[in-house]
Amino acid sequence: MPNRKKTTAFFCSECGFESSKWMGQCPSCHAWNTMVEAPVVPASAKAAAAGKSFGLSEGRPRPVSLREVDDAAELRWKSRYDELDRVLGGGIVQGSMILVGGDPGIGKSTLLLQVTRNLAADGRNVLYISGEESLHQIKLRANRIGEVPDNLQFMCETDLDTITEILLETKPELCVIDSIQTMVSGAVSAAAGSVSQIRETTSVLLRLAKQTGITFFIIGHVTKEGTVAGPRVLEHMVDTVLYFEGDRYASYRIIRGVKNRFGSTNEIGVFEMRREGLAEVANPSEYMLSGRPEEASGSVVSCTIDGTRAMLTEVQALVCRSNFGFPKRQATGTDFNRVSLLMAVLEKRIGLPLSEYDAYVNLAGGIRQSEPALDLGIAMAIISSYRNRPVGDKTIAFGEVGLSGEVRMVNMADTRVAEAAKMGFTTCILPYSNLRGVKQHDGIELIGVRSLKDVAEVIN
Ligand SMILES: Nc1ncnc2c1ncn2[C@@H]1O[C@H](COP(=O)(O)OP(=O)(O)OP(=O)(O)O)[C@@H](O)[C@H]1O
Ligand SMILES: [Mg+2]
Repeated sequence: MPNRKKTTAFFCSECGFESSKWMGQCPSCHAWNTMVEAPVVPASAKAAAAGKSFGLSEGRPRPVSLREVDDAAELRWKSRYDELDRVLGGGIVQGSMILVGGDPGIGKSTLLLQVTRNLAADGRNVLYISGEESLHQIKLRANRIGEVPDNLQFMCETDLDTITEILLETKPELCVIDSIQTMVSGAVSAAAGSVSQIRETTSVLLRLAKQTGITFFIIGHVTKEGTVAGPRVLEHMVDTVLYFEGDRYASYRIIRGVKNRFGSTNEIGVFEMRREGLAEVANPSEYMLSGRPEEASGSVVSCTIDGTRAMLTEVQALVCRSNFGFPKRQATGTDFNRVSLLMAVLEKRIGLPLSEYDAYVNLAGGIRQSEPALDLGIAMAIISSYRNRPVGDKTIAFGEVGLSGEVRMVNMADTRVAEAAKMGFTTCILPYSNLRGVKQHDGIELIGVRSLKDVAEVIN
């Protein structure tokens, strides 16, 4: 009788869920249209791979109590980029595996080339494995960023077995895989970039990392295509996940921690893409506010928080009489529904006839933020544009707006006020209930507001 054993299965490209039949929605993560067919690794091959210990550790493990485990100090390397080190929770943890995801062309290879260059300059041995570019192309990029030390070495290879052999032979302290979608393992017959290849190659690298102590940076492409697995499948397997993002039309790039086993998430680091590579932006508020119009109506500065970092953002609104029966609304960089809701609240609670007006709201500089603390800034920008009265160059506003028009408390108000004071603002409009938690900062007057009615009086 012929062997009818199924050799393919369906995997969810978002979470890696495995199923014998195709489904429109993944039962595990509820994502739609993410199941892709891929060959199954035979159990024997899986077992052999799992047992493969790269000849480094012998024998079976035994259960131990934590007292028997040595108190190894958590060793971290500094990348010389404070922006990145902060996102990582204080530096790169030795022996960890860090996934850097991002859209094509955003600058992932440039970032890692610069980081590994700094680590190599501090005496670390680094191997940069590229499956995408030739050595010639890498050299062109390296020429852009400057001098590269000799202990940062490069290799173009996609075969995982060869890579494993070379890593065991050369034992670098740090290894970059650029990118995981191009790596292929002989144990799986699927194409490079498929879910099963990505899972297999990452799990081999993970075992290698845990057994040899090599620190890995893995680059992953984010694609929306169902057939190519995005790095989401890997997120469960690695220690740290960073996303590198930015606006296509702006030169700043933001690195965001999404998962971190060795530090908090939500932190962001800001870089700027220049001709000579990525440069840190130590003061993003200044960067975001540069080029702000003076004494213009419809422009209000607000403050958002990412992790521990406060950042000032300019909210712009343009409100003009609608020529059609159906007024147009547009939100760029912030949540459209939130803007519609705020306009409804303004209409109902302070009587602005906004249903006869078109409104455009924009966060300047191409930044994207949807924190509720921006509400007050957006509402004030709309009022200011409607009345054609500037709010004042040195005024900043933050607070959440509720459906009754009340201005509600937000977290970390003191950090926000401190950032505004540091940037030279002289007036801060904030929720009344936040006043008690804010210390006195030099040169800035605090105005607590309870509702949008109070705000409407401030902009006269
Ligand atoms: N001479 C230059 N001046 C300014 N920016 C440049 C210059 N050369 C390249 N760049 C920037 O670097 C980006 C490419 O960087 P990089 O190759 O590191 O991206 P990547 O994320 O690794 O891309 P891929 O997805 O193709 O691997 C370009 O999109 C561009 O923004
Ligand atoms: Mg690249």
